[in-house]
Amino acid sequence: MPFTIAIDGPAAAGKGTISKAVAAHFGFAHLDTGLLYRAVGRKVLEGAKAVTAAQTLEAEDLQSGDLRTPEVAQAASKVAAIPDVRAALVDFQRAFALRSGGAVLDGRDIGTVICPQADTKLFVTASAEVRARRRYDELAANDLADNYETVLADVKERDARDMGRADAPLKPAADAVLIDTSDLSIESAIAAAIAAIDARR
Ligand code: C5P
Repeated sequence: MPFTIAIDGPAAAGKGTISKAVAAHFGFAHLDTGLLYRAVGRKVLEGAKAVTAAQTLEAEDLQSGDLRTPEVAQAASKVAAIPDVRAALVDFQRAFALRSGGAVLDGRDIGTVICPQADTKLFVTASAEVRARRRYDELAANDLADNYETVLADVKERDARDMGRADAPLKPAADAVLIDTSDLSIESAIAAAIAAIDARR
């Protein structure tokens, strides 16, 4: 079996950065599963039905257009609460995890639902305030910024929806290693993730 690393956690905790660095370090493929939900969310904003959008999702939907806007993020977290949307995306994610050479998948339910047999599970988190500050800086750098308070409210609203949904809610797997990045530099957070993975290889 190829080696699978599951990285879950709330928005802007550092999952994406850590996942990319870990994948590069081990030479593994990386799938940001949030992009799947964002692509479905964007199609819904364009008038599509959520379940149909999920069932007909294509690779190019993950590349085209801007999937990183706050509007698309909110739409993504809404469609992500629909069980048939989640079900439509399971096979693609599991097939990706089985790629020979190893894979890193990051999202909300990778360690709990998509890859419960993952070799290493990390749960990357940080305080809502720290995450909102990071997201604000990221948006500002791309000229997409609202004010900080709006970004914080947005982060908290998405957290509540992701943790509160009945199907595959955001939570750490029982055997996940917790990494709180609130007070960690990017380099330290990446080093902590690699150390946790090395301990299980
Ligand atoms: O990670 P990202 O912020 O791009 O994810 C966008 C939204 O997609 C999340 O707020 C969440 O509702 C949903 N999502 C999910 N399960 C995943 C990945 C993302 O429900 N595995």
